[in-house]
Amino acid sequence: MTGTFAVTVRTSADEERASAAEEIVRGLTAEPKTLSPKFLYHEDGSELFDEITRLEEYYPTRIERSLLECFGAEIIDDVRPQEIVELGPGNSAKSGTLIGPALRAGTLKRYIPFDISEPAVREGAQALFDAYPDLGEVVAVVGDFERHLSAIPRPEGTRLIAFLGSTIGNLHPDERKRFLAEVRGLMARSEDALLLGADLIKETSIIEAAYNDARGITALFNLNSLKAVNDLLGIDIDIDLFRHRAFFNAEHSRIEMHLEAQTDVAFTLPASGNTVRIRAGETIWTESSYKFTKDGLGEALNETGFRNVRWFTDPEEMFALVLARP
Ligand code: AVJ
Repeated sequence: MTGTFAVTVRTSADEERASAAEEIVRGLTAEPKTLSPKFLYHEDGSELFDEITRLEEYYPTRIERSLLECFGAEIIDDVRPQEIVELGPGNSAKSGTLIGPALRAGTLKRYIPFDISEPAVREGAQALFDAYPDLGEVVAVVGDFERHLSAIPRPEGTRLIAFLGSTIGNLHPDERKRFLAEVRGLMARSEDALLLGADLIKETSIIEAAYNDARGITALFNLNSLKAVNDLLGIDIDIDLFRHRAFFNAEHSRIEMHLEAQTDVAFTLPASGNTVRIRAGETIWTESSYKFTKDGLGEALNETGFRNVRWFTDPEEMFALVLARP
């Protein structure tokens, strides 16, 4: 490494593990039964998600990448960022589409990846230093974007905050509003900007196919959240008793992923000794993935203090990059 690298750790795998057990119990004893989508990524889950991003049916990653390749330099020219904060970059696989142009423009001084996974952030920083010897400073923050955004250092110059991959789609409207307002608070100047990747509403069959791929990878990804439950609670729910379900809920403009019990299922929670009963046909709701209209997302941005909004989309308007400023 030639550049400098610092890591602020606000949460660890052990800490996440301890709070996860409690959160799982809360979800499984609620009505309807829910699990946080973060459990989809437990252990093999991250690799399954990588596999999803390469599926024919799963269009978001592919289209977002081509939008970044197509418009990355234009976005950088518009913002001329001295620092890029990237929320949830994982291993920073697509960060180069912004960092490359920002280094070529000669503006970029700092890259600040924020992610829940310390190993991913370390690996990503190493790969970026290797690919971009001119990258001077990486300041990584390890945390949960719903709890630890305040650990991101104060801006030292024009700041671009990137939140890509349509991760915003995992947040329910109230959570989305809170999140956007908090992101707005990470900005100090009227030139600072947020770059959001968001999936747009389109024909239902196209959206549903992306979450019901022919090879069944999304089903394995969904079922992986039950593996996380078994692992984190030290129990042995029979995963074969559940089926993957994913459908578009038009009223709420979201894909919902559920695990549907094929028969009555019961298991005992180790901490309390309480029994959880799931009836045949009942589901555990494992993820929501909201799809947006430009108007709807524009309004959510306006409501949270973003006034100046620029859109970058593909000709079919399947996916959008939104550049939003105060
Ligand atoms: C990473 C949350 C954007 O919602 O499309 C992929 C996760 N779930 N297939 C999405 C996911 C099922 C993905 N996000």
